[in-house]
Amino acid sequence: MSSFEESEWSRKKHVNEFVENADIYVLERRRLFKILKSFFRNFLENRINERAIKVLDLGCGNGVLIKEILSESHKVKVVLVDGSYEMLENARENFKRHDFDYIHATFQELLENESTVNDRLFYDFDLIISSLAIHHLYKEEKKALFMYIYNHLNPGGYFLNIDVIKAPKDELESWYRILWSEWIAENEEEMKLREEGMYNKESFVNLPEKYKNNPDNHPDKLLDQLNMLDSAGFEDVDCYYKYGIFSIFGGRK
Ligand SMILES: C[S@@+](CC[C@H](N)C(=O)[O-])C[C@H]1O[C@@H](n2cnc3c(N)ncnc32)[C@H](O)[C@@H]1O
Repeated sequence: MSSFEESEWSRKKHVNEFVENADIYVLERRRLFKILKSFFRNFLENRINERAIKVLDLGCGNGVLIKEILSESHKVKVVLVDGSYEMLENARENFKRHDFDYIHATFQELLENESTVNDRLFYDFDLIISSLAIHHLYKEEKKALFMYIYNHLNPGGYFLNIDVIKAPKDELESWYRILWSEWIAENEEEMKLREEGMYNKESFVNLPEKYKNNPDNHPDKLLDQLNMLDSAGFEDVDCYYKYGIFSIFGGRK
């Protein structure tokens, strides 16, 4: 079993570095958010007349995904889960004026049947989202988490996962890392132009290479993960977006 405590996410320095720089190196981050918002508008917003939409964010970080959803609608009831206390504090700070629930727990803890954490996840959700977090789990753990997600959705509820995946071939994986580096270089140039002399960060173009060698990352192939969703019982399973190793996929209960 993977251990959160041994991962870089348990270190404050790493958490701060991500929060500060993710917009520079997460490939097409703005586009990923736009797709999430369009998904929300298309499949969930029409239910709002009835009641608030219940949303669960797994591996919420500082709450960026929820912030994007709030820009679409405030009629949401939100639970945020993260293994990092630091990240959850960041999220709390960002949503001071909202009455959201915060659960400090690792995915591994959620999957322990007898875990008291689950007593706090008392209702079923209309939407479960996650971004760049589930690839930290091994394949069997992902399978179990997808089943857990299915079991915590209302009938007709959706799961949308933004995550990095493993390419089906090493040659493709190498090229996807090059694509990623090229995108980072382009994005850094644009940011420099926008910030006119204020931009003073080191370059992140080597990050894709570091990602490859990072023992915390356990990405699985997209097809395998779509099949896992299918086996968990999800319907309409599909990949909604893909650019190199970055993808958005999910399904409906
Ligand atoms: C790359 S950050 C993404 C944060 C946020 N979702 C975003 O897109 O900005 C990964 C997040 O997943 C959390 N995480 C990683 N492994 C986890 C695990 N096993 N259980 C719970 N949270 C985990 C980290 O603490 C971190 O907040």
